[in-house]
Amino acid sequence: MKKVYIETYGCQMNEYDTELVKTILGKEEDYQFIDSPDEAEIILLNTCSVRDNANRKVFNRIHQIKQKRNGDKVLIGILGCMATNFRQQLLKDPHLPIDFIAGPDSYKRLPQLIRRVETTGEKSFDVTLSEFETYSDVYPTREGGVNAWIAVMRGCDNFCTFCVVPYTRGRERSRDPENVVAEVRRLAEEGFRQVTLLGQNVNSYNYQGKDFAYLLERVSEVDGIERIRFTSPHPKDFPDSLLRVIAENPKVCRQIHLPLQAGNDRILALMNRTYTRAEFLKLVEKIRRLMPDVVLTTDIIVGFPTETDEEFEDTVRVVETVQFDSAFIFKYSERPKTIAARKYPDDVQDEVKTERIVRLNEIQKKISYQKNCAHVGEVHEVLIEQEFTKKSPNHFQGRNEGNKIVIFPRGDYRKGQFVRVKILEATPHALRGEVVEVLEK
Ligand code: 5AD
Ligand code: SF4
Repeated sequence: MKKVYIETYGCQMNEYDTELVKTILGKEEDYQFIDSPDEAEIILLNTCSVRDNANRKVFNRIHQIKQKRNGDKVLIGILGCMATNFRQQLLKDPHLPIDFIAGPDSYKRLPQLIRRVETTGEKSFDVTLSEFETYSDVYPTREGGVNAWIAVMRGCDNFCTFCVVPYTRGRERSRDPENVVAEVRRLAEEGFRQVTLLGQNVNSYNYQGKDFAYLLERVSEVDGIERIRFTSPHPKDFPDSLLRVIAENPKVCRQIHLPLQAGNDRILALMNRTYTRAEFLKLVEKIRRLMPDVVLTTDIIVGFPTETDEEFEDTVRVVETVQFDSAFIFKYSERPKTIAARKYPDDVQDEVKTERIVRLNEIQKKISYQKNCAHVGEVHEVLIEQEFTKKSPNHFQGRNEGNKIVIFPRGDYRKGQFVRVKILEATPHALRGEVVEVLEK
C-alpha cells in the first residue's frame, strides 16, 4: 500500500475533483489516502490558477515539502488548473521537483501516470483537455456530511478576458440529467440533506436541450434532499423559467451568487461580460420582484487594466445600489494566455488596487452588517452543519436558506437536522440566535 496525501487549492470544483481523485486512486489496491504529508509516499497538490497568489502558494508549498522531506523517497504530483503551466515550467527546468502532472480532464489516467514514474523514473504528464469528460461514472469519495457537491457541468465557453478557466479547464460540457439524479438519489440514501450543483458556469448547463431549470426541477424530486444550491452562475443565463424555479420550488434555495465583476460599461465590455450595468441592475430588480427575501452575493475585480478612479466609482455605486448580502472582492491579477493579458497591459498600480479593494471592502462590510441586522427578530429555518463552532464547543452552527451562518447554543438536536432559530444578534459574517423548534424533516 502506498500512502497518498492530497492538498486542495481553489474553488469548490477543485474540492469536488479531489473527491473524484480519491475514488479513482482508491479503486486501485495500491493506494491509501492519509491526512498528513509527513508520512506520505505520494503527495498530490490539486492546484488553482485563478489569481497569481494561488499560483505562488503552490510553488512555495512544493519547495517547502521538498525541504522537509529531503532525501525521502516521495513522489510529487501536480493536479488541477496549474497543470499546463507546470508542464511548461518542467520543460524549461527539468530539475523542478515534480514527478507527474495531470490536468483536470486526465484524472482517470493518474494510476498509469504514477506507475510510469515508478517503473521508469521518468517524469510523466497528461494535460490534454477533453470535450466530453464529465466523470459521470465516478462516484466521489465524500466526507460523510450534510452537503454534497456535485458537478453537473465542467469547463467554460464564456472567455471573460481576465479569466484563465477556459484555458485550464477547456470547453463546456454537461452531464446527463438522469445520471445526476441517480447520484443525488444515492446521496439522499447516504443521509445527505443538501446538494450544491457545481459548474464553472453552472446555469449554462444544457444536455441535449435540457436546461438548468429542468435539472433543478428533476433534482428537487429526490426525497430526502431538502435543499438545493448551485454555484457559480453567470448573469447572462437567468431566463424567466429558471428564476421561476428558484422562486417557486421550495427546495431550491432563494440565494443567488451574481458575479458583477465591475459596474462600469466600458470595463464590462473590455471584460467581455456581455451585459451592461443597466442590464445587471434590471436583472437584480427582476429577481427581487420575484423573491423579495432573496440573498444576493457577488464577485468583483478592482483595477482591471485602464480602469480609472471614476470608473471604479461606478462599481462603488452599483454595490451601494444593489446592497449585496456579501461580496468577494479581488485585485485584478494578469493571467497568462488570457485575452486581457494579450491585449491590455496591467497598468493600474498595485497601491491603487489596494486602495480600491480596501474602500470597497469597507463599504460592503457595512452593507453586510446592516443586511444581517435586519434579520434580528426573524425566525429562520436552519440546517445544522456542525456540532461546534470555531470558537465554542458549546454552540452549534448551521445555515439558513440564504446560506448565512447561524450560531446557536448546543442542545438536544444533531447535525443534519432542521431547526427553527430565532435570530437575536448579527455580525457582518453571521447570525446568532436560539432554537425555538426542532423540525421533523
Ligand atoms: N484577477 C482577479 N480576479 C479574478 N477572478 C477571476 N479571474 C481573475 C483575475 N485574473 C475572480 C472573478 C471570479 C472569481 C472566481 O475570481 O471575480 O468571479
Ligand atoms: Fe481556480 Fe478557477 Fe481552476 Fe477553480 S476553476 S481551481 S477557481 S482556476
